[in-house]
Amino acid sequence: MPTLSTSSQIPDQTGRTFVITGAAGGIGKAAASALAARGARVILAVRDQAMGRAAVRDIGGRAEARALDLASLASIREFADGLREPVDVLVNNAGAMTAARQETRDGFESQFGVHHLGHFALTNLLLDRVTGRVVTISSSAHRSARIDFEDLQWERRPYRPFGAYGQSKLANLLFTSALQRRLTEAGSPVIATAAHPGWASTGFRITSGNRLFDTLMAIGTPLLAHGPEGGALPTLLASTGEVPAGSFAGPSRFGGVRGPATLAEPSPRANDPETAGRLWEVSERLTGTGFPLAANAPAGPREP
Ligand SMILES: NC(=O)c1ccc[n+]([C@@H]2O[C@H](COP(=O)([O-])OP(=O)(O)OC[C@H]3O[C@@H](n4cnc5c(N)ncnc54)[C@H](OP(=O)(O)O)[C@@H]3O)[C@@H](O)[C@H]2O)c1
Repeated sequence: MPTLSTSSQIPDQTGRTFVITGAAGGIGKAAASALAARGARVILAVRDQAMGRAAVRDIGGRAEARALDLASLASIREFADGLREPVDVLVNNAGAMTAARQETRDGFESQFGVHHLGHFALTNLLLDRVTGRVVTISSSAHRSARIDFEDLQWERRPYRPFGAYGQSKLANLLFTSALQRRLTEAGSPVIATAAHPGWASTGFRITSGNRLFDTLMAIGTPLLAHGPEGGALPTLLASTGEVPAGSFAGPSRFGGVRGPATLAEPSPRANDPETAGRLWEVSERLTGTGFPLAANAPAGPREP
């Protein structure tokens, strides 16, 4: 079973390029630091440029920050258009829980819009330059969730922050399996993997709407959760480890809460090919993006 106990165990990454969304802080920044320390070039795709520049200074090495707001399809297109060079690994990491229903610039419910639709569009728009992996960060919260195709955007039912978060994180896993299916059918050497950090003390705030629960989580997180470096281990395993296509990495201890990263089992709903296929079709319609690789045409730079 592939395992990663510390980031120093990842193989040398010299000559490889990683794009990591939401890498100005938290798990994304910790993963970027670990990769840069092993020689990788890391492109931090961030919405706050000042934070991005500060993260680049902290990380050093071959780090750079570029503007990306996953709550805007225009920003996602601009980012993808500006990235002409090959990318070894795309890490779809950015995320935030919102206490009240919010919308992205394109009118999507923000958690579904940023976590799933934003990364869906980004991946499709970058895929012809990705040569190695697409890694998408989910959460244990996917386990209690379901996809409500009648109300994906929480317009008809009372908004539940945790419900919306769980749906978006289940969508991340369904996206990974649907993407892997398409990559296999296209004969592409690129693989799709997923990871979840367990419980990590980062900038992430649980805003479930239950004030007592949220307060207890805010107090308990720095005491009980692992730090961003621990939370980044599953991301690093899914990005650089010898893991199977379509696999899901997560912490190995305390029921997947913290500890060394290893392979985890997603919920049965996350493995349902019918739901994954339906979600893919809806996401194509909503974002105006689609799988870009022709059958048997490997990804990577093409001859001019
Ligand atoms: N921490 C945990 O216990 C935990 C558990 C399960 C899953 N996760 C997942 O792990 C991932 C990383 O979270 P984290 O814990 O590292 O939290 P974090 O410290 O808050 O980092 C999340 C990053 O995502 C960025 N982001 C949010 N919305 C964005 C947008 N519209 N466009 C671009 N970037 C955006 C944030 O940017 P700003 O700095 O501009 O806000 C921030 O840099 C998330 O997908 C989260 O759902 C975390």
